[in-house]
Amino acid sequence: MKLSVIGCGYLGAVHAAAMASLGHDVVGIDVDQAKIEALSAGRAPFFEPGLPELLLAGVESGRLRFSTDTADAAGAAVHFIAVGTPQKAGSTAADLRYVDAAVDGLLPYLSVGDIVVGKSTVPVGTAERLAEIVAPTGAILAWNPEFLREGFAVQDTVAPDRLVYGLPPAAADAEAVRTALDEVYAAALTTGTPLVATGFATAELVKVAANAFLATKISFINAMAEISEVTGADVTELADAIGYDARIGRRFLNAGVGFGGGCLPKDIRAFAARAEELGRGESVAFLKEVDSINLRRRQRVVDIAVEELGGSAYQKRVAVLGLAFKPDSDDVRDSPALDVAVLLNGLGARVLAYDPEANANAKRLHPQLHFAASAEEAVADADLVVVVTEWKEFRALTPEQLAPLVAAKVIVDGRNCLDATAWREAGWTYRGLGRP
Ligand code: UGA
Repeated sequence: MKLSVIGCGYLGAVHAAAMASLGHDVVGIDVDQAKIEALSAGRAPFFEPGLPELLLAGVESGRLRFSTDTADAAGAAVHFIAVGTPQKAGSTAADLRYVDAAVDGLLPYLSVGDIVVGKSTVPVGTAERLAEIVAPTGAILAWNPEFLREGFAVQDTVAPDRLVYGLPPAAADAEAVRTALDEVYAAALTTGTPLVATGFATAELVKVAANAFLATKISFINAMAEISEVTGADVTELADAIGYDARIGRRFLNAGVGFGGGCLPKDIRAFAARAEELGRGESVAFLKEVDSINLRRRQRVVDIAVEELGGSAYQKRVAVLGLAFKPDSDDVRDSPALDVAVLLNGLGARVLAYDPEANANAKRLHPQLHFAASAEEAVADADLVVVVTEWKEFRALTPEQLAPLVAAKVIVDGRNCLDATAWREAGWTYRGLGRP
């Protein structure tokens, strides 16, 4: 099929490349000239395993093109809106200006019967509003939320665990959308991927409800970590034990420095803001607590570090291992790891930070920080080591390997990703979160 993808950030670039890999003819559109140049040359503008290969193959096959000109979207049967919906400045609500601009920019190039498919995460009610804007062109609007995880984005797009179609109310329009999307996602559907076909409001809500649930699960276990810290319990053992209950499940029960990234934090805030607009603020008031618990954990890591530094971080050398909000990503948006580095730096510590992929992005946001080119360089002469992103290379570090490099054998494991016993037996002071 001929597809256009408006917005070539995380979501759009991966979606465009994945759709081309499935045999579709795809044009990706973005206003960012540098991004389009990189993508056109088959280079990924951000770190995502598997994406560079997919981009190169797509561009070489001729089935994947990128452009800064929305006119190049003309002629596609399906147009995906994949622009960002960041948090609004000075508010917790979502900023819809990019979605609105993408739809407005597309209007002159739409033909009767074209399908415009929103993939961006939006406040409930957005699709209904946009459908009216699109209607005069004879095109049909639908909403098809995306559930990809950074680090697994390619796999999640090519083989999603479910598909959700938010269909328009008119039966004939709904049928047209269904037929088109079934063709777009034929590969996934033939392997038995579950499909939920529903209305606009449900489709929009599915996305934010899923992220709200995941955020709540993480903050729940971090709340248990807080209780563990004052009772001598071990939150990792607690998570294992409750996780054996299949109704609870062990995934997303890793206590630590908390969640970050471009999705979970802003999505729960936008959801709470939208619920308030709808007069139902109390229904998701708990999300504010979820947010507070989450943000407290960043400070907790800093407090533990200061405690281990003898009450003051001033002029102490601190190695911060990890800056990305999670491993296998160079994304530092709302990153707990980066926050910890910034907070310690603000307390006067001599922070040397290292992330396998995120140094450059962190430096752009916080040029006052100092960066190392390797974990070994970061920990050299350190009075304290903090691990805040559980990259594989950090989990593989051994106490024996680091001991000769540091000034003091003290490690704060902000992700509970190291073997506490092994580090303690090797003579280190090991501090986890929610663990004795
Ligand atoms: C999240 C959702 O998982 C995706 O399903 C969704 O599509 C995406 O947002 C989105 O809205 O686009 P992502 O932001 O890539 O995906 O990251 P997650 O894997 O959900 O991790 C979020 C944060 O939670 C990370 O900082 C991670 O370190 C933290 N986390 C995760 C924990 O602290 N504990 C856990 O047990 C799991």
